[in-house]
Amino acid sequence: MAKPKNLLLLLLVFSVSTAAVFFVRTALDSCDSRRDDGLRQPVAKESGLERKSPLAFMRSKKVVLVSHELSLSGGPLLLMELAFLLRSVGTQVVWITSQKAAQMDEVTYSLEHKMFDCGVQVLPANGQEAVNTTVEADLVVLNTAVAGKWLDAVLKEHVPEVLPKILWWIHEMRGHYFKLEFVKHLPFVAGAMIDSHTTAEYWKNRTHERLGIQMPQTFVVHLGNSKELMEVADDSVARRVLREHIRESLGVRNEDILFAIINSVSRGKGQDLFLHSFYESLRLIKQQKLQVPSMHAVVVGSDMNAHTKLETELRDFVASKGLQDRVHFVNKTLAVAPYLAAIDVLVQNSQARGECFGRITIEAMAFQLPVLGTAAGGTTEIVVDGSTGLLHPAGKEGVPPLAKNIVKLATNGQQRLAMGRKGYERVKEQFMEHHMADRIAAVLKEVIEKSKGSSRS
Ligand SMILES: *[C@@H]1O[C@H](CO)[C@@H](O)[C@H](O)[C@H]1NC(C)=O
Ligand SMILES: *[C@@H]1O[C@H](CO)[C@@H](O)[C@H](O)[C@H]1NC(C)=O
Ligand SMILES: *[C@@H]1O[C@H](CO)[C@@H](O)[C@H](O)[C@H]1NC(C)=O
Repeated sequence: MAKPKNLLLLLLVFSVSTAAVFFVRTALDSCDSRRDDGLRQPVAKESGLERKSPLAFMRSKKVVLVSHELSLSGGPLLLMELAFLLRSVGTQVVWITSQKAAQMDEVTYSLEHKMFDCGVQVLPANGQEAVNTTVEADLVVLNTAVAGKWLDAVLKEHVPEVLPKILWWIHEMRGHYFKLEFVKHLPFVAGAMIDSHTTAEYWKNRTHERLGIQMPQTFVVHLGNSKELMEVADDSVARRVLREHIRESLGVRNEDILFAIINSVSRGKGQDLFLHSFYESLRLIKQQKLQVPSMHAVVVGSDMNAHTKLETELRDFVASKGLQDRVHFVNKTLAVAPYLAAIDVLVQNSQARGECFGRITIEAMAFQLPVLGTAAGGTTEIVVDGSTGLLHPAGKEGVPPLAKNIVKLATNGQQRLAMGRKGYERVKEQFMEHHMADRIAAVLKEVIEKSKGSSRS
């Protein structure tokens, strides 16, 4: 029973032309598999679905989810995952997109459809229906700091009665989010939910020092890997097929070592510094006459149209150092599984304060990959330095240590495999969808209790 499903997954991965289609199909699949338990029992049993959901107590509740946008970026996708988790236990879920794009594009359209299919009600951001629904809801989840603007703009005089039942989910830590116009109501909501301890600390500090406001009760909820990803990660046949396919498309042989950085190309994600480290590691290997297989790097997340200056700089660097045969660029994609199956090491090189969480890190660990990451942000809470990967400082001073770590893993296949296995164990222990669901359930329970208390008083 498991095999046809896997084949289907493989076909999906190969047959799609755009990331959007891939996401919509896989996510749709997950919604179906939760509703049609009868049809897919064997798979469901295998993945532990028969376990009572920790969110079961949400069954008869009404929840409003407010997202600043509806797109394929990290924040909205996470909120959609929450929407489907809640739907799977019978919660009444209403979705509101606070900043509607001027034009409904194909992606928004398919995402809205997908929500209808899963029984999520989608409401316009403005108007009396949105206000009434929010006032009546048991819980309101505001997603990202930016969504705060919606409160005054739409709820107006109803803001005070809604605040005690708001859970504010925050995924960002860039300076421009620390604006009073976004977060002035933050101290008065029932709770904040943040993806890592580092980010929670940072918000506490910055709201206090910059804005003179206090954070509400704050819950740290680490994210988890989706069932869809784990299904591919745990299927050695699928992994091998994907590995061969991707390597062939890049011109990388099976015995070569492939390092990857998988993020949208931007200075904050550090692709430029990674390529400097990669070049430096090749120099070290040559200088020390080390015996290593042929080394390659792939940058997944390119978009020649969007970040032209940095994209050009990266390609110029590669050309100037004569690395064209070793460094490969791949367009942005949401279908990361094939690349995770194909590579040997993931590099997470996010700069400055690092990632708020950095989901790609736990995804790579699910594929038994060691991670070379910056010692910043959420990465420090995921990667165990020296055990599941190696950490290096952010910034220019991180270039030589990262180069050394690249050499270390390139020259030591045993260490690579051992770290990959440890990473996989860590993911299984802490970073699965059911762990995230447990953590979120505990938070929702507490927030709902608290808001009931405040509405009685
Ligand atoms: C919203 O609630 C008010 C007061 O309860 C009611 O008069 C109005 O008809 C409702 N509007 C909608 C669109 O549901
Ligand atoms: C808060 O920020 C200040 C200034 O950036 C820093 O000196 C201090 O150590 C930070 N405190 C915490 C608890 O992170
Ligand atoms: C990658 O993106 C560029 C620019 O958007 C486009 O011209 C190119 O065809 C894409 N390549 C692939 C393989 O999709």
